[in-house]
Amino acid sequence: MCGIFAISGERETAGNIVLKGLKKLEYRGYDSWGIAIRDAGKISIEKQIGKISGVKKDFGKSTESMGHTRWATHGGVTNENAHPHKFGKITLVHNGIFENFLEVKKEIGAEKFKSETDTEVIAALLDELLETGLEPDEAIREAAKKIVGRFAILVMVEGIPGLFAARRGSPLILGRGKTETFIASDIPAFLEYTNTVNYLDDNEMVYISGGTAIFSNLKTGDPITKRDITVNWKIEEAEKGEFEHFMIKEIFDQKDTIARAINHDDELLKKAVKLLQESNGAYFIACGTAHKVTSAAEYFFAEISGRKINVVPAGEMPSFEKFVNEETALIAISQSGETADVLEILERGKKVGAKILAITNVETSSVARIADVHLPIQAGVEKAVASTKAATAQMALCFLLAYADAENIRPGSINRGREILRSTASSINDLLNPRYAEYVEAIAEKIVDRRNMFIIGRGALYPMALESAIKIQEVSYIHAQGFAAGELKHGPIALIEKRVPCLVLGDDSETISNAMELKARGARIIGIAPTRADVFDEWLRVPDCNGAQAIASIIPVQLLAYHLAILKGLDPDMPRNLAKSVTVK
Ligand code: AGP
Repeated sequence: MCGIFAISGERETAGNIVLKGLKKLEYRGYDSWGIAIRDAGKISIEKQIGKISGVKKDFGKSTESMGHTRWATHGGVTNENAHPHKFGKITLVHNGIFENFLEVKKEIGAEKFKSETDTEVIAALLDELLETGLEPDEAIREAAKKIVGRFAILVMVEGIPGLFAARRGSPLILGRGKTETFIASDIPAFLEYTNTVNYLDDNEMVYISGGTAIFSNLKTGDPITKRDITVNWKIEEAEKGEFEHFMIKEIFDQKDTIARAINHDDELLKKAVKLLQESNGAYFIACGTAHKVTSAAEYFFAEISGRKINVVPAGEMPSFEKFVNEETALIAISQSGETADVLEILERGKKVGAKILAITNVETSSVARIADVHLPIQAGVEKAVASTKAATAQMALCFLLAYADAENIRPGSINRGREILRSTASSINDLLNPRYAEYVEAIAEKIVDRRNMFIIGRGALYPMALESAIKIQEVSYIHAQGFAAGELKHGPIALIEKRVPCLVLGDDSETISNAMELKARGARIIGIAPTRADVFDEWLRVPDCNGAQAIASIIPVQLLAYHLAILKGLDPDMPRNLAKSVTVK
């Protein structure tokens, strides 16, 4: 997934504005960056490998510019493969995957290409189509017919002012000004200039020049009108403030975000669960951390409303799509609302009449917009690649939905669910204080040199053991593995060596017995529970949350992962090989 940003207008510092805006999108991809500027009709390009955050450069005078931060899919991290790509009259940036690019590359003549990317092939295809006499918008429409895969592209054409953009499956948003227009993959890039936006939808194209934006259907060319939307994002929410990294800021944001997540009226909650209640079979669809949230939610519904909901990671769902039909409910959970594996399932599910409930952090995302019912988690912009506040907000909302699902059988359940969550939110608010973070940091110092870590949990804490592993893996690069507490003795316990750190989530008697089995083999037990058991070598207290334990228990692990990364001198916000939202399959 990549960051795209462009401006067309009167400001003569277009290149510098794009540089600044791309830095706000760096979390979307940070292998390399590139910027094209148009000055007196001439298009010039600067591109480099590495992160854009530290780049200081004056791009001089230009009123039109576009740029890109890359998360490599096709071709290594090299200057040549960085975007923008220029071919003939075309200069282009791209987010997505051109699945059949090799076939088209061969047709055009592989020897004509400088890079290994699929993107350069799109530029060449457009240039060839222009050569046949097509206008740029016609050429883009023709090229879109040939491209298999999801994409968002921005195109500058030599000799024709303005920029063209088209999307099919990857996000593009316009920021509107009187005499200028911005286009970006995400709003923070232009938020300081305007909060009036238009969303480019799938299979749509737009031509921008100055304050003009002309929208059209990417298949037919028919004109489209777009209404202006005012977004109420606060700039500081998208900034770190006094925190050193977005990850630690967003961990502390959880003092407020859990309470915000459940701030929905009963009618909307009932509408959401009605979609479940009227279905004959339901699937949670998500990826990564969001998938672990759905696994915890499976326990919430089973225990609270007695409903069995299938949980399948989105990438594995094709094997089960034969069971999806007009009676199926698909519950999609996605922070970004742009994860390709999730969107693919929803798009195909919609075609067979499945009903979609979406829980996202971006109300105007593709997942939110395809849904029949959408519940925003209202966690504010989450920029660190490691998802923290979104995960606990998603869990809180799922927990409340399980109580909403029980309302018919036990009137007053929604209020009961709110009470539990409000008390959980306030205990977490107390927990998230600098002393607690320092205590976690002290434990991180004791285990930072370990190459392996194991985490066990039972019930909804089992998916939290899996989520703990993701957090620790993705920011500290330590090999961490989560297990169901009861599963350990059936194989994985062979991995236990002297002093290996094991996080034990929970203090129920069975889990404590499992912890003793680990301790007997020399493991260092770090307990994360409301009470300190004798078996714990270290103890990270969490509040007792009346069934919502999963929400509180992941917080000390988020802090532990963050401090492990810092102690190892790593950047917790932009870990290697990752990107914030994976909009490619
Ligand atoms: C979480 O820490 C990871 N960054 C990753 O697993 C993420 O949860 C996953 O890619 C899903 O993203 P989404 O919630 O935006 O769909």
